[in-house]
Amino acid sequence: EKEKTLAIIKPDGLLGNYTDDIKRTVLEYGFRIFKEKTVQFDEATVKRFYAEHSSKSFFSSLTKYMTSGPVLVMVLEKDNAIADWRALMGPTDARKAKITHPHSVRAMCGLDTQKNCVHGSDSTKSAEREISFFFRELSADVITEHD
Ligand code: CMP
Repeated sequence: EKEKTLAIIKPDGLLGNYTDDIKRTVLEYGFRIFKEKTVQFDEATVKRFYAEHSSKSFFSSLTKYMTSGPVLVMVLEKDNAIADWRALMGPTDARKAKITHPHSVRAMCGLDTQKNCVHGSDSTKSAEREISFFFRELSADVITEHD
């Protein structure tokens, strides 16, 4: 079985109509979109999702941003999916991505360190947690869901 990772297209990605470009890039790089759904985060759910960042200075602005509109959550599958999706996203700071990784997803659609358009699991452990968070125990409102 191939490795799976969790990817999120954040509110600015959906609002800016980058979904099709991001999906095309993902498929070009050999990922399969195993599952996907559109979700509107509520505050409690996004705080649980980003619990590891709860002590950070940017936590409240992060939760505000992530509840500002729907997000598209995808389970991506390929060999080495976790590291490959992180490489394809590019650096957290989209301004830096535009300079150092011009072909990355964040260079294409991100704005800055917070509004960076996409999320990806950073390890095997977080991929497992994040995939089950959305596809087994989700309490946020699910707008659409399909395999
Ligand atoms: P993500 O990969 O989803 O993980 C945590 C998120 O917090 C990150 O992307 C950004 O959206 C946000 N973030 C990380 N660092 C900062 C920062 N220094 N200032 C504001 N937001 C940040």
